[in-house]
Amino acid sequence: MTDAAPTPAAAPLPFGVAELLAAVAGSRSVLDLGCGSGRLTVALARDGADVTGFDTSGARLEDARERAAEAGVRLTLVEADMDDPLPFPDAAFDGVTSRLALMIAADPVATLRELGRVLVPGGRLATALWAALPENPWFDAPRAAVRAVLGEERASFARAFGTLGDPEDAARAHVAAGLEAVEARLVRERVPRADAAEHWRSLATENGHFRRVDEALTETDRHAVVSEVAARLAPFAEGDGLAIPRALVLVTAVRP
Ligand SMILES: C[S@@+](CC[C@H](N)C(=O)[O-])C[C@H]1O[C@@H](n2cnc3c(N)ncnc32)[C@H](O)[C@@H]1O
Repeated sequence: MTDAAPTPAAAPLPFGVAELLAAVAGSRSVLDLGCGSGRLTVALARDGADVTGFDTSGARLEDARERAAEAGVRLTLVEADMDDPLPFPDAAFDGVTSRLALMIAADPVATLRELGRVLVPGGRLATALWAALPENPWFDAPRAAVRAVLGEERASFARAFGTLGDPEDAARAHVAAGLEAVEARLVRERVPRADAAEHWRSLATENGHFRRVDEALTETDRHAVVSEVAARLAPFAEGDGLAIPRALVLVTAVRP
C-alpha cells in the first residue's frame, strides 16, 4: 500500500475538447497554440502527452500553470506569438492543437504553415474555431443586444469571432498551408439556460468581453440589455427554459 495523493478529478471538458483530444490521441508530444488558461492543454497532459502550450498573455500562462499544478500534470509553457516564426525547431512535435485561437492570427495560413513546420511528417493537427455567427446565437444574440441598446462602440469586441467559421473556408486555409488529409466539420451543441437573465449572468461571469460590458452597466441599462437578449433568444425556447445553439468548426489534418 502507498500513501500517494489521489489524482484530482477532472472537471467536465469544455466544448470541443473531447473532439480535439480524440484527433491527436496517441501523440507523444503535442503543441497547443494560444493555450490561454490551459483548459485543453491540461486535458492533453492528463491523456498522457508531453505538452507544450504557448500564448502571448503572461497572465493566461500563469493561470495555465496553476491549473496544471491543481491537476497534478506537467506542462511546458512558453510566451510566444503565433504571428511570428514559432520558437520551436522543425519536426519537434507529433501533434498540434489549437482551440478558439487560430481565427485571431493576422495571417492564419502563415501560422498554419509554421504549425506544419514544427510537426513531424505524418504528425496530426487539430483546430477548433467558432463557427459563423448564425450558428452561434449564444454569442451573437447578446452582442447584437449590446449593439442595439448601447451602440456600436460597446459591441465592438471579439471581431475575429466567426472568421474561418465556415468548414470549407477553414479547410481551404489548412490545404493552402500545405497540410494533407484535411477534413472539416461542424460540431454542435445546445446550452441549457433557465432564461435570458441567466444567460447574461453566465456570460458576464465567464467571458471577459461581456464582463467588461456588464461592469459598466447601470441597473436600467442592464435591464434593457437583458430584455433585448430575451427577445433575440425567443426562437430557442424549449420547455420552461432555453436551449441555445452553439457550434464549432473542427478541422483535422496531417503534415505530409
Ligand atoms: C479564446 S482564447 C482560447 C484559449 C484556449 N485555447 C482555450 O481553449 O481555452 C484565445 C487565446 O489566444 C491567445 N492569443 C491571442 N493572440 C495571440 C497570438 N498572436 N499568439 C498567441 N496567442 C494569442 C489569447 O491570449 C487567448 O489566450
